Amino acid sequence: MHLPKAELHLHIEGTLEPELAFALAARNGVDLPYADTEELRTAYLFDDLQSFLDLYYALMAVLRTEDDFTELADAYLARAAAQGVRHAEIFFDPQAHTDRGVPIGTVIEGLGRALERSEETHGVSTQLIMCFLRDKSAESALETLEAAKPYLHRISAVGLDSAEVGHPPAAFREVYEAAGALGLRKVAHAGEEGPPSYITEALDVLGVERVDHGLRCMEDPELVERLVAERVPLTLCPLSNVRLRAVDVLEDHPLPAMMAAGLLCTVNSDDPAYFGGYAGDTFRAVQEALGLDREQLRTLARNSFEAAFLDHDEERRARYLSEVEAYAFD
Ligand code: HPA
Ligand code: ZN
Repeated sequence: MHLPKAELHLHIEGTLEPELAFALAARNGVDLPYADTEELRTAYLFDDLQSFLDLYYALMAVLRTEDDFTELADAYLARAAAQGVRHAEIFFDPQAHTDRGVPIGTVIEGLGRALERSEETHGVSTQLIMCFLRDKSAESALETLEAAKPYLHRISAVGLDSAEVGHPPAAFREVYEAAGALGLRKVAHAGEEGPPSYITEALDVLGVERVDHGLRCMEDPELVERLVAERVPLTLCPLSNVRLRAVDVLEDHPLPAMMAAGLLCTVNSDDPAYFGGYAGDTFRAVQEALGLDREQLRTLARNSFEAAFLDHDEERRARYLSEVEAYAFD
């Protein structure tokens, strides 16, 4: 769907399509434990977040050089642009690369090269969000922030991702404080598989401005009331929720109830190479499965630009919002 939209919850490593994975494996002499792309695709049946993360981290072995990261980001931006994405705030997982011996500068400069020319090449403005892996230590997160200091001009925010249950946000208070002091914005995954209390903790202890997923807020009416009152954006990923079994089928997704409750919902693709759809595919899928009408779709698109970190460029936000209002559905 070409409705203009911002993508606010997108892991660049989750855009690694099987074809590119095999091409990079051949180029870099990396052995993949799958015969071909077809066999690899059969591994994309997940029981939960962890079973996905195991494959997601394993496939990253093919990403080694600056060029690899540039190619990965370029491929994503081209696909996103073709599906109406006008602005993308892109997550990356530095520790998943530095732990394999790939320097953080290789990752950031490689991604940065694609991102800095994206507006010209793809017509998509971009930002980069550096995520800490919550199943690693707080010390490792602090070391990562330190290592990223020479590259902060390329980074606009920090995030928190990976295995959620048993890894509550509060452990990362210090690194979020340090990131805030460096002028970085703050988001965190919370309430994907973890309880609603993790959402509250991300807001109160880490000071996040947006909650990634936030799905399980619906179990706590007082929390919903707070999120509505404070207009905290939620970056929902409905196709991800189905593939990782947070909801049984897309038809059961609480998105319409969340919108009706007054939550500031956005719809995003999370890890599109793994979950069966990029941004436009995701909008189309929720439209069909949940019967959203055109004005509800327009509201989701409007929300995406309102929730974007565009405070330094309100003119751009206004331009994107006017594109949403002017969009004629076909
Ligand atoms: N949740 C947590 N960690 C992740 C995800 C996700 O959806 N995608 C990539 N890393
Ligand atoms: Zn995510």
